[in-house]
Amino acid sequence: MTQVSIVGTGYVGLCTGVLLAELGHEVTLVDLDPSKVQAVKDGRAPFHEPGLDEALKQQVTSGRLDATTDTQRAVDASALTYLCVGTPQDETGAADLTAIEQAARDVGKALAGLDAEHVVVTKSTVPPGTTRDVVRPAALQAAGDHARGRVSFAMNPEFLREGSALSDARDPDKIVIGAEDPATGRAVEALFEDLEAPIVHVDPSTAETIKYANNAFLATKVGFANEMANVCEAVGADWVDVAEAIGLDDRISERFLRAGLGFGGSCFPKDVAAIAHVAREHGVPSGILDAVLEGNEVQPLRAVELLEAEIGDLAGKRVALLGLSFKPGTDDVRRTRAAPIHDALVDRGAEVVCHDPQASSTFHELRPDATLAETVEDALTGADGCIAQTAWPAYAELGPDRFQAWMVTPVVVDGRRVFDADAMGGSSVTYRAIGLGGQAPDS
Ligand code: UDX
Repeated sequence: MTQVSIVGTGYVGLCTGVLLAELGHEVTLVDLDPSKVQAVKDGRAPFHEPGLDEALKQQVTSGRLDATTDTQRAVDASALTYLCVGTPQDETGAADLTAIEQAARDVGKALAGLDAEHVVVTKSTVPPGTTRDVVRPAALQAAGDHARGRVSFAMNPEFLREGSALSDARDPDKIVIGAEDPATGRAVEALFEDLEAPIVHVDPSTAETIKYANNAFLATKVGFANEMANVCEAVGADWVDVAEAIGLDDRISERFLRAGLGFGGSCFPKDVAAIAHVAREHGVPSGILDAVLEGNEVQPLRAVELLEAEIGDLAGKRVALLGLSFKPGTDDVRRTRAAPIHDALVDRGAEVVCHDPQASSTFHELRPDATLAETVEDALTGADGCIAQTAWPAYAELGPDRFQAWMVTPVVVDGRRVFDADAMGGSSVTYRAIGLGGQAPDS
């Protein structure tokens, strides 16, 4: 059993804390925000994540997981400290390291009187070199000479997906440990001895690079799928069939080939931009990454173009926008593709009515002027057109008859291939879908 402190109670900090407590370790979470600390103590995750509240409550009740605003107390009660604070994208695309540098200083200060060994582990997604060049110096400077030599550093990236973060934490496909020396690597590895996953031991900068390469490749795969889906529409093919076939090649696999309106979330857009920025900083070409980002900016607008192709000028038209979260299973709207779609429709003079099973309130914070419908029926009633942006299961259950019954003109643009193309095609609904060819207005 290891006593662990974790700075940051967001997705990564909280899921890591729950996992480590479930593995039998003693965990103290630290956050600057007393309301977040209280929420953790009450067993309430400050965001929607399936299964997290129950798991959190269980670990708090067991006494293995606690939370505090007091960094000193948390560090004193631990032999290893995780840094799990946000590293958002700044206006240049680079990762903003303000929070993690401050967290490193806070932990260093708490280690000043240290007489025992202590490991500081970066888990936040940070540009290659950050643990060595930012975290380590900031912590050691704050810790002072007495503690120097007792504190070592590592980097242990997370690969959690929103909506399945807890299961991803419990059953990872790999554990990457970037330690500055073998003993530190073993100390981090010991945390996960009850997990089955393969352990990858590298240096800290390689671990930081693995994280970016993992996300950038997945985002590139999605960007490729979107671009090929656009080609399928032009040549009369259906990307769903193409993706299924190429996915049978186990070098490709069928995962992350779902074409749609682009990738959103707090990771892909930020991480691709950050590693492209690192490449530029080092004078290394980043053409593929730049193209993935450029494609992701224009892909949402294809839904608006498909709608215009069917109902003409959107000025004065009522358009239902179904799905506001960046993907199903979450209320997270960070970099959601619904935002640029909403803006493009408004810019064209459309009256937009939005709906989402979970993300209405978070989207309203993003777009205070957005009109939000309580139910799908309210959103679709009287609408001249509809765009499905998030593949919520609740939408997949809507048959053509619902669109025919509620809409003035049943024109549906399926941005995420939510609906059954055959059922839609066989009805009086005008159905356009990303990647579905052979539907040009004159075909
Ligand atoms: C991602 C990575 O998967 C995870 O490993 C990392 O730790 C954090 O970033 P997340 O952002 O939660 O996780 O969502 P993910 O399920 O990966 O989807 C990211 C975006 O890509 C979403 O907008 C999703 O709609 C989109 N996507 C995903 C597609 O458009 N097509 C696909 O086939 C898969």
